[in-house]
Amino acid sequence: AAAVPAEKDDPFEQELRKANEEMIRENYAQALRSFNTLTTNFAHEPSAHLGRARLLELLAKKERSNQRLWEAIDAYKRYLAFGELIASNLEFKNAGESCIENLRFLGHHRQATTIHELLIKRLPEDPRLRNQLSLTYLMVNNLQQVEKVAVETLKLWPTNAVAQLHYGLALRQFHADYAKALPYLKYAVESEEEGTQEAFFYLSLGETMQRLSMKSEALEVYSKGVAKGFFASLYQRSLYNEPRLRAQPFWQPKETGYERQLEKLALNWRAIRDEGLALLGRSGFFEDEAELLRDKGVWQQYELYAQGRRVKDNCRRAPITCSLLEEFPESAGCRRGQVKFSVMQAKTHVWPHCGPTNCRLRAHLTLAAPEPEKTSLRVAEQERTWREGELFIFDDSFEHEVWHNGSQPRLVLILDMWHPQLSAAKRRSLTPI
Ligand code: LMR
Ligand code: MN
Repeated sequence: AAAVPAEKDDPFEQELRKANEEMIRENYAQALRSFNTLTTNFAHEPSAHLGRARLLELLAKKERSNQRLWEAIDAYKRYLAFGELIASNLEFKNAGESCIENLRFLGHHRQATTIHELLIKRLPEDPRLRNQLSLTYLMVNNLQQVEKVAVETLKLWPTNAVAQLHYGLALRQFHADYAKALPYLKYAVESEEEGTQEAFFYLSLGETMQRLSMKSEALEVYSKGVAKGFFASLYQRSLYNEPRLRAQPFWQPKETGYERQLEKLALNWRAIRDEGLALLGRSGFFEDEAELLRDKGVWQQYELYAQGRRVKDNCRRAPITCSLLEEFPESAGCRRGQVKFSVMQAKTHVWPHCGPTNCRLRAHLTLAAPEPEKTSLRVAEQERTWREGELFIFDDSFEHEVWHNGSQPRLVLILDMWHPQLSAAKRRSLTPI
């Protein structure tokens, strides 16, 4: 009989088995030494690099160490570089996907795309690999690339739901072509296929319908989103939420516990107004709203605090306002919000939309509102307007919509404030928005 290589006696196989056993026994220090030795002594063996990558990834999670995660990524790349020498498509794909997941986690989406390309080249028949690539582009809001990849995928798999979803999102957010986006988003979300069931996608579909005046259809999408646990309620559709926070469209100052701070600001509204108006008079300081929230018109902002941090240069030009805000750290220091002057010109309409989080409340201190009867803010099912020197508070995680049908600009100071029910420790632990 022909000689069969005795795998047991193969020194590489033996060492590899030993290293893996050490890993399974959670003797990580020893396992790492063994894998390091293996990849040195048997540098040409792909599985040595793969084993080392898996171990480093495990260690990175245990130690919560990004340094280790980078080592894991490098090890995966060394493994993937063997290309055709790796016999198993599945192992190649799994390693590539792990590498991509780690790169996404570290925020290096650009690098991830090269791994995606590698996987697609090796497995051109798998549409999911292309959808993963467009998802990586979606994560960094590179909608041009999302569109490009999705179009290619749809050429080969015209009915693929995830590719339709990504194409629809690009049509909506990059081209602002709601009518063209609608059938793609609708088909995808209604397919309920894997990769299509997320709050953001329900929100995108619903908002697209609202912009096409399909009110009842949008409500249906939102109520399905509520049933699936994506939204707190039909009108409260923020995506970054803390559970069990009191939620209502409008708040009274005394309900927030920030009464004293708010009152002091309102008492000083004229000084704040003068600073805001002076800045409005100089060109180039206010910036356009850039999130495609406007149906028509002009709506601009001048930021004083963003994500809990003072915008130094801007505060220098509004010293009174900012010194008042320094006495209100629950607002100035709110890492899930901003403080800003907001100017809205006549003939403006802001589409219905929701803020990103339920962790803040939003106060408007009205500075200039010469035509209160021609402006309107709707929050959920309640409407009100702006009156000079007045302050009101709403929860912008609820759907709101704004009209200015007058002829003169309206200026407000917008102050976000931590939701009063969030503890100090919680406020510190939440990621900025
Ligand atoms: C909003 O928060 O969307 C608007 O109310 C802002 C504004 O300037 O009216
Ligand atoms: Mn808003």
